[in-house]
Amino acid sequence: MAMTSFVVDEQDSRDRGGPAQPLLTVNALRKHFPIRGGLLGRVSAHVRAVDGVSFTVAKGETLGIVGESGCGKSTVARLLMRLIVPDAGEQIFDGEAVGEHGGISVKQMRRQVQMVFQDSASSLNPRMPVQNSIAFGPMAFGLPKQEAIAMARELLTKVGLNPALFGARYPHELSGGQKQRVNIARALALQPRMIILDEAVSALDKSVEAQVLNLLQALKRDLNLTYVFISHDLGVVRWISDRVMVMYLGEVVEIGPADEIYNNAKHPYTQALLASRPALDPDMRREEAPVSGDPPNPINPPAGCRFHTRCPAAEPVCAAKAPALRDGSDTGHFAACHLHDPSSGHSQSVRH
Ligand SMILES: Nc1ncnc2c1ncn2[C@@H]1O[C@H](COP(=O)(O)OP(=O)(O)OP(=O)(O)O)[C@@H](O)[C@H]1O
Ligand SMILES: [Mg+2]
Repeated sequence: MAMTSFVVDEQDSRDRGGPAQPLLTVNALRKHFPIRGGLLGRVSAHVRAVDGVSFTVAKGETLGIVGESGCGKSTVARLLMRLIVPDAGEQIFDGEAVGEHGGISVKQMRRQVQMVFQDSASSLNPRMPVQNSIAFGPMAFGLPKQEAIAMARELLTKVGLNPALFGARYPHELSGGQKQRVNIARALALQPRMIILDEAVSALDKSVEAQVLNLLQALKRDLNLTYVFISHDLGVVRWISDRVMVMYLGEVVEIGPADEIYNNAKHPYTQALLASRPALDPDMRREEAPVSGDPPNPINPPAGCRFHTRCPAAEPVCAAKAPALRDGSDTGHFAACHLHDPSSGHSQSVRH
């Protein structure tokens, strides 16, 4: 795409660390939300939404994030964008720590990381033609209006919308799929290196969803993008992801190559999640929670392995000590489960 480049001259000039250096590294990220109660509104408890999460995202890959509602997926996304401030942890973007102390600032990071949410309507200004919404970010970074609008129209073409037809339309004149295409164009306008997609296609009809997913794949190839793709839809995550991270109650319980996770899940939680996947036939779809029983309260999560209260293989050791993420087979497939740690003391633990 011969798009005006106002943020940088060359995509590659930003790739200082080379292809082997992860684009994103997150270490021990934590966010506990205070809960206020009582007459004085004092903090009475904390929701442990994200509780020591670590992972990497390689350049050019798509990392999928799955897990039941409330496990902390969106909180991770909002932390990565610094829409909320982490309590603890480290975020390294292409080798540079994000924050006030050296490395790159939050503002510099945000130029390189964009986010697309599920709620396509509310993220666009209803009183602005969509091409102006797309041009807004570049203008905020100093691009003259005329150039920014021209760029917005190029981007509309890029996401499959004819600018002559759609550029001057308002969000309410677009379908859900078209609005999501505009949101993707808007995310691309700052020429990011990474896009975080939080349930970005979840509200769309299946056929429209497939088209937008294909668009995302094509854009990723053309523009050298890296994705973090969050969805409750395990099928979609499998289709789009190179690696998949499974979260449970604010923690990572398993992470690895998508094929490994789907064909050879190690964690009983992942196995249960996959086993209860809704059938492709809509008549066969079930509405109940994916794993039997409700997840425990994240204000007071179970001791040891947080899944032990619902796990068919739980033994006393599971309540006594928290399992660490381990890769017993050296295939980049990590699980946090005593069953997969030969030294854990679990009677059924296996060596890989
Ligand atoms: N601002 C907040 N204040 C208090 N608690 C919060 C806040 N935001 C999120 N939470 C809580 O943090 C936990 C994680 O929420 P989060 O939205 O990250 O989950 P999620 O995995 O994205 O769920 P879903 O699949 O429903 O989108 C939940 O228990 C949620 O209620
Ligand atoms: Mg969410």
